[in-house]
Amino acid sequence: MNNNSTFVNWFRDSSPYIHAHRHRTFVIYFGGEALLDDNFKNLIHDFALLNSLGIHLILVHGIRPQIDNALKKSKQSSQFQNSLRITDKHTLQCVKESAGLVRVDIESLLSQGVANSPMSGAELRVVSGNFITAQPLGVIDGVDFQNTGKIRRINNTAIQQQLDLENIVLISPIGYSPSGDLFNLSAEQVATEIAISLQAEKLILMTEQSFQSATGELIAQMTTEETKQFINQESQLASSTQHALKSAIHGCQSGVKRVHILNRLIDGALLTELFSRDGIGTLISSTQFEFLRSAVLSDIPGILELISPLEKKGILISRSPEQLEINIADYIIIERDGLIIGCTALHPIKNSQMGLIACLAIHPDYQKSARGNQLLEQLLKQAQQKSFTQVFAFSTQSMQWFIERGFSEQEATQLPTHLQATYNPLRNAKVLRKQI
Ligand SMILES: CC(C)(COP(=O)(O)OP(=O)(O)OC[C@H]1O[C@@H](n2cnc3c(N)ncnc32)[C@H](O)[C@@H]1OP(=O)(O)O)[C@@H](O)C(=O)NCCC(=O)NCCS
Repeated sequence: MNNNSTFVNWFRDSSPYIHAHRHRTFVIYFGGEALLDDNFKNLIHDFALLNSLGIHLILVHGIRPQIDNALKKSKQSSQFQNSLRITDKHTLQCVKESAGLVRVDIESLLSQGVANSPMSGAELRVVSGNFITAQPLGVIDGVDFQNTGKIRRINNTAIQQQLDLENIVLISPIGYSPSGDLFNLSAEQVATEIAISLQAEKLILMTEQSFQSATGELIAQMTTEETKQFINQESQLASSTQHALKSAIHGCQSGVKRVHILNRLIDGALLTELFSRDGIGTLISSTQFEFLRSAVLSDIPGILELISPLEKKGILISRSPEQLEINIADYIIIERDGLIIGCTALHPIKNSQMGLIACLAIHPDYQKSARGNQLLEQLLKQAQQKSFTQVFAFSTQSMQWFIERGFSEQEATQLPTHLQATYNPLRNAKVLRKQI
């Protein structure tokens, strides 16, 4: 029974994400290392599930370890310059072999449909092709990169046609030139340029590691500026991870809405990231993911959604959309990834140098992380700027919270005259006051 209700709750909680992701285009990159892992079949099952949920998938695979193995077998090695492989004639042969083998392996795994397996009944259609036109990287600082290439053009119309038919598009890091030459490309760059060119909803780069802060916690989000600093500070980053982070910055700066960096080694990372509130990876965005700002009229539906459950419980006084509209300039909010997760207001009290703090709420999923404090601090700053001498708050269940932040309790009968009109004795809220 307990397990059953956990499952039901989990499934219900996922439904907003299922609706939101349907018919969206996701570009997912994973390195050649993924194919060498016993868990790769799980990742394939997850791709199949995403496809079944109506997500338009473009999979871009890497082939670095496969090229290294092929070179090793023939007792050869590659030369690198600035962590980029120089693709000479022999290496190019290894690139062709590796790309062919990896592609066929992925196609065969995606074609499974054994009864009682997670792929049963999936009947996926996978399409690969010459979607990328490339050109030589050329000679840089006197070094000829030979058949290492860069992307010249992406045939996004052809890719889109395949997505519209609900086919999974599988792309190898290889580009073709009009003169019939073949070029070895960076798979991360291929994924990023495709995401930019198709204006994909998400670019997901699966790397071989997670990113931790100095205190050992997962870094859940970084702006592009923070990502640049992170690359400069972290001397231990694998070069493939550096490629991924640099691609993420480029993707964000070129209009991809969301770039997620996920640790491929965590089984189920993709599903957790896409179908749970806080995910498991690092989200890179060009602007701050969560920020505090003044409210505007278009925030009213979001504010109402946040405060309605508290109004129903009598914790906050009920406000109509019209009241919010009239006083919207008094409100500040915390926006996180497009959702309003916190709000409060400082209403000036007529004919006085005093203010009333009202409508303070933090979404239950985001409480206890100093967000309430952050809103209060901001209001106290505003009160100071407006030369208020004191601020008040009415509270039925949070008086202790205010007291711990320097407020003191006061009798309702001693309220300033203009505030007495807004105080409802039937509600019997505690009156809290703070000197500015
Ligand atoms: C009150 C509220 C805004 C605090 O937001 P928050 O972001 O969780 O607050 P902070 O992270 O800054 O502070 C967290 C601390 O306050 C404590 N706290 C939270 N709610 C409290 C309450 N109602 N009374 C007393 N202490 C409270 C927490 O236990 C925590 O203390 P701890 O770390 O010592 O355990 C939030 O709990 C909320 O939205 N509550 C429902 C609405 C409400 O009561 N609004 C006030 C109307 S006047």
